[in-house]
Amino acid sequence: MTHDLDQALALLSAGELVGIPTETVYGLAADAAQPLAVAKIFAAKGRPNDHPVIVHIAGKEQLSDWATDIPEAAWQLCDAFWPGPLTLILKKQAQVSHAVTGGQDTVGLRAPAHPITHELLKRFGGGLAAPSANQFGHVSPTTAQHVRDEFSPEVLSLILDGGACDVGVESTIVSLVGPKPVLLRPGGVPRAAIEAVLGQTIEHQKSTSTANIRVSGLLDSHYAPRTTLLTGTQAQIEAEAIRRSGQKLAIVHTLALTQNISAQSVVMPDNANDYAQVIYATLRDLDQQGLDAILLVLPQGEAAWLAVHDRLGRAAHQKLGD
Ligand code: TXA
Ligand code: MG
Repeated sequence: MTHDLDQALALLSAGELVGIPTETVYGLAADAAQPLAVAKIFAAKGRPNDHPVIVHIAGKEQLSDWATDIPEAAWQLCDAFWPGPLTLILKKQAQVSHAVTGGQDTVGLRAPAHPITHELLKRFGGGLAAPSANQFGHVSPTTAQHVRDEFSPEVLSLILDGGACDVGVESTIVSLVGPKPVLLRPGGVPRAAIEAVLGQTIEHQKSTSTANIRVSGLLDSHYAPRTTLLTGTQAQIEAEAIRRSGQKLAIVHTLALTQNISAQSVVMPDNANDYAQVIYATLRDLDQQGLDAILLVLPQGEAAWLAVHDRLGRAAHQKLGD
C-alpha cells in the first residue's frame, strides 16, 4: 500500500486522476490546485462544468487554506464529525479555482475518515477535488471494482483499493454561508447529530425544479441504475409485480412478501445504516442481470432513513402512485 500511495501522490502531482476510497463512496480525485487536472474529472464523468466538486482535506488544520470568514459553527462541526462523512459549504478563499467551485463564491470541504485516503491527504498536504467515481447520473461506487466498471484504465490508471465503503451513501452537506445553517443533502452524519452540536434545528433545503440547479447531487434524476427502477409501498410493489407477470423482475424489500410472486427476491437489512451500506452495490448487481425492472419497496421509517429515502427518490424512474 505504501507503494500505491507513492504512485498516487506522483500521479496527482502530475495532474492525473486517482480513484480513492472514502468511508461514504469512492471518489475520483485530482489535485484541487490544478484546474486542468480538475477539468479531467468533468471530462471523465461527463459532468457539466458548472457543477462544483468537494475538496477533500486531511483535517481542520487545512480549512483556512480553502475557506474564509469561517463561522464558529464550522469549527464546532469539524471537532464533532471530522474526519467523517460531513461536507461543509463555506465562503471560498480567493485562489480556489472556478474549476472546483463551478464559478460560485463558495467551496465544499470534507475530511474523509478512510485510513488510506486520510494518509494520502496528510502526505499530499493540499486538497483533492473528488466527486463520486461514477459516470454522471449513475449509481455511486462503493467498491474498487465498481470504479473499474465505470472508467477505462486509460482514463483512470490507479484506483486505491480500500475495500467496501462503511457508510455506503454520500456525505451530509451543510451550508454555513447563509444567515442560518442549511442541510443541502442528507447523508452519513444524521441531521439530529448536527442539530445537537449546533444547538439549533436546521432546515432541509430540498430541490424542486432543475432550473438553476448547479448542485448535481440535488438533481432529481441521479444515482440511477440503467434498468427501470420502480419504488412504492409493499402493496403497490406486489400489485405491480403481478401486473408484470411474465417479465424478468427483482423485488427489493425488507419485510416478507405477502403474495406468491415469481420474481427474484432481494431481502435488505431493516436497519437504516446497514441498508445504506449495501443499497448501491445491490442496485449495481441487479443492473447487470438484464432485468425488465427492479421493483423496490420503500423502507418504512423516519429520521434514520433520511439519506436512504433521498437517494432512492432520485434513483427511481417512477414512484408508484405518483
Ligand atoms: O461522500 C461524498 O461526499 C463523496 C465522497 C467521494 O467524498 N463525494 C460526493 O461528491 O458525493 P459529488 O460531487 O458526487 O457530490 C458532491 C455534492 C454535489 O451535489 C455538489 O454539487 C455539491 O456537493 N457541492 C460541492 N461544492 C459545493 C458548493 N460550493 N456549493 C453547493 N454544493 C456544492
Ligand atoms: Mg455523485
